[in-house]
Amino acid sequence: MPGQEIISTEPATGAVLWRQMSGDADTEVGIARRSWAEWAARPLAYRIEALRRFANVVRQKSDAFTDLIARETGKPIWEARTEVETVIAKVDISVTAYSERTGQRRVDAQMNTRLALRHKPHGVLAVLGPYNFPAHLPNGHIVPALLAGNAVVFKPSEKTPASGAFLVDCLHAAGIPEGCVRLLIGGPDQGKALAGHPDIDGLLFTGSATTGIALNRQFAAQPDKILALEMGGNNPIVVWNTPDLYSAAVLVVQSAFTSAGQRCTAARRLIVDQQLFDPLMAEIDKLVSRLIIGEPHADPAPFMGPVIDNNAADMLTESFVSLLTLGGRPLRHMERPIESRPFLTPGMIDMTNATEKPDVELFGPVLQVYRCDTFEAAIAEANDTRFGLSASLISQDPRLYDQFWANIRAGIVNWNRPTNGASSAAPFGGVGWSGNHRPSAYYAADYCAYPVVSSESDQARAAMGVGLRDA
Ligand code: NAD
Ligand code: SIN
Repeated sequence: MPGQEIISTEPATGAVLWRQMSGDADTEVGIARRSWAEWAARPLAYRIEALRRFANVVRQKSDAFTDLIARETGKPIWEARTEVETVIAKVDISVTAYSERTGQRRVDAQMNTRLALRHKPHGVLAVLGPYNFPAHLPNGHIVPALLAGNAVVFKPSEKTPASGAFLVDCLHAAGIPEGCVRLLIGGPDQGKALAGHPDIDGLLFTGSATTGIALNRQFAAQPDKILALEMGGNNPIVVWNTPDLYSAAVLVVQSAFTSAGQRCTAARRLIVDQQLFDPLMAEIDKLVSRLIIGEPHADPAPFMGPVIDNNAADMLTESFVSLLTLGGRPLRHMERPIESRPFLTPGMIDMTNATEKPDVELFGPVLQVYRCDTFEAAIAEANDTRFGLSASLISQDPRLYDQFWANIRAGIVNWNRPTNGASSAAPFGGVGWSGNHRPSAYYAADYCAYPVVSSESDQARAAMGVGLRDA
């Protein structure tokens, strides 16, 4: 496949940040395949040590990494810093997860025989990353994959290649063999070539449901390969029977608009008791009108930056208009203060009486609002999606939370907390179109190795007690 130049520009300024020709999947997989066996044969302690050195390298370079992520994604510097901290913390979390979920243990022992459970790495794993957390999310696959003894070929998003390249440089600087972690620069074409390469043993994907479903189809006839899909959501936040409407408004705004709404766990739909609608929306509106939207390094610090690029901003503003044409009532129009740059103000729209409710993920600062008369109707509305990533209830009533928890369909179900801000120390994944039952974060260990059970005895001492004629 002929190479193409991948150019990364800063969303906030339009300045070119980084450029490089795309790579070749065949070359990178070949190198990883040749390097894998030596890495897999190293003792676990060796691999742990190497990954701890990686955490230290990231710590030493944390200011530069933070600045790069902020420039490349447009997210505020404070938020980019938390992403780098999460990258560092992932190593210790993965070491614990490896031993708790995929380590070695003796399951049973009878006379002179033991039944041992151990785990083996798959081999060469491809990792495809998204742009919204260009370091933390691929790292969430890469670290557990390396720890388990796999080699990795990582293709970062074509929108954030520089952050991906920085991550791989840190792994190499820590002494992880260059052959064991390969960087593949490119876009969907290189992604397809990597996913379809016969010499990979699996694919760990974080991105949109559209891409994930295409990959699922591609892998359907390959049961020998592991496929982990971490996809998007159309996440509900339900507000019911809560006295503190200011706090409810803060939780809604944090859920919907942090990272300019570019989080898989962002609240896309606010479902509210009809009685609370007016006062709650008044609180939310007051808060939204105070949000600072600006470039990553601005002072005072912005709450959110731009979306990733002008195409994304165009798509979001068009989607907002299309919700209006379906009968949505605007509560706050989405605006684009600088025509040539992808800064967007949060848009909110009442979709209660719309003729159609498109079940798509609008990956940006758009909140659709639904009013309901009963809590049962609110749960039904919340579940009216093919996705199932995260869901929150804001309420003072624990019985409502019990009911919500029992009936809602999502992999993350929160109470009086935002829909986003998931912990790396817990499993992270969704049902429906949000994932394929291979959750990541703490459970990433599970898809990075396969279990091997061995019945073992030190000596071949055996006898047959039945079914033999006398000698
Ligand atoms: P995307 O699906 O467009 O791209 C993800 C990666 O796949 C990129 O590296 C891209 O180059 C590659 N790719 C695209 N098309 C491909 C194809 N046909 N074959 C192979 N590779 C292909 O996603 P995005 O726009 O970069 O990221 C945003 C999406 O990611 C949102 O939907 C968001 O909800 C989701 N996301 C999910 C999680 C999660 O953990 N569940 C976390 C963050 C983001
Ligand atoms: C994401 O991975 O996109 C969001 C994680 C979170 O904030 O919950």
